Amino acid sequence: MSDDSIVSASAPGKLILLGEHAVVYGKPAIAIAIDKRFECTVFPDYTDTLNGIPIDYEHHPHIKYVVRKNSLANIGVETDSYIPSGSGLGSSGALSSALAAAIREYAGLPFDKKEIAKDAFEAEYYAQGKASPMDTSCCTFGRTVALNYPFDDMNELMTMEKNGKKWSISGSDAPDMTFVIGYTGIKASTTELVAKVKRYTDHSTFASDIVDEIEFVTIEGMKCIKRNDPVGLGKMMTEDHKLLSILGTSCNELNKLVNAALMHSYGAKLTGAGGGGSIVALTDEPEKVCEDIFLHGGLPFIVKPDTVGVRIEEPEQ
Ligand code: MEV
Repeated sequence: MSDDSIVSASAPGKLILLGEHAVVYGKPAIAIAIDKRFECTVFPDYTDTLNGIPIDYEHHPHIKYVVRKNSLANIGVETDSYIPSGSGLGSSGALSSALAAAIREYAGLPFDKKEIAKDAFEAEYYAQGKASPMDTSCCTFGRTVALNYPFDDMNELMTMEKNGKKWSISGSDAPDMTFVIGYTGIKASTTELVAKVKRYTDHSTFASDIVDEIEFVTIEGMKCIKRNDPVGLGKMMTEDHKLLSILGTSCNELNKLVNAALMHSYGAKLTGAGGGGSIVALTDEPEKVCEDIFLHGGLPFIVKPDTVGVRIEEPEQ
């Protein structure tokens, strides 16, 4: 095996500030890429492998989609991640983006973030059964990414469409505000939570009204980001958490961490699919919020935004 047939790419995780779940129904959402990365290395192998053992594609649908889409076989994939899986911090979005980038490079295709974002979204959709391009776009483009952003102060990057839903994808720098993550340590399945919300909205106009309320709160929160108003944004984040709880996506551990974080925060909410995973808090007192989260059983860290998105990594010498 020659060294130039080994290709690595990495992509950042993300936190969703506002709009998760509703974004699956074409509503707006906003997310920030974070400085915890997922790296994928691909290379020729005797049979398809994942981290040194023959891969069972039924258990790894994201990888199955990207490898098969490029009609590849006899390929080894190695993964290395600083994003806990099921933490709500974009591990599957970052895997999809990093793998799509590595496989495109391996197949001799040009590095093109729009194409990578499309492949990564299709992989996520295939794996989840239903998804928005929120996570995969944020992990691909990095910085701050909004879907269906209703104002004109972000750059439109691309649009995507799937099964009658349409999303315009915009990017900007991260807001000049401080966010703290609190990880519950509980793994949650995005697929199951997205399916749970779908069952609820299919059978109840009340649930669809909640999705509309999340849209309202998200747009109000975006206005607060535009005018650099952490007090207003914090209120919208906490309100969003209440709405997400009504949709059945919170749990006791998340509520406990949200309440703990609120002691020294402008606002706090679950981030990502929920059901476990993580919360995000907006604060001017990050050390105190970290302590509050830690004392209530969570694993805290202060967010450092990612500024790069997906990238090809130099092979190790
Ligand atoms: C998960 O991080 C975000 C969800 O909105 C699902 C999706 O957008 O595909 C829950």
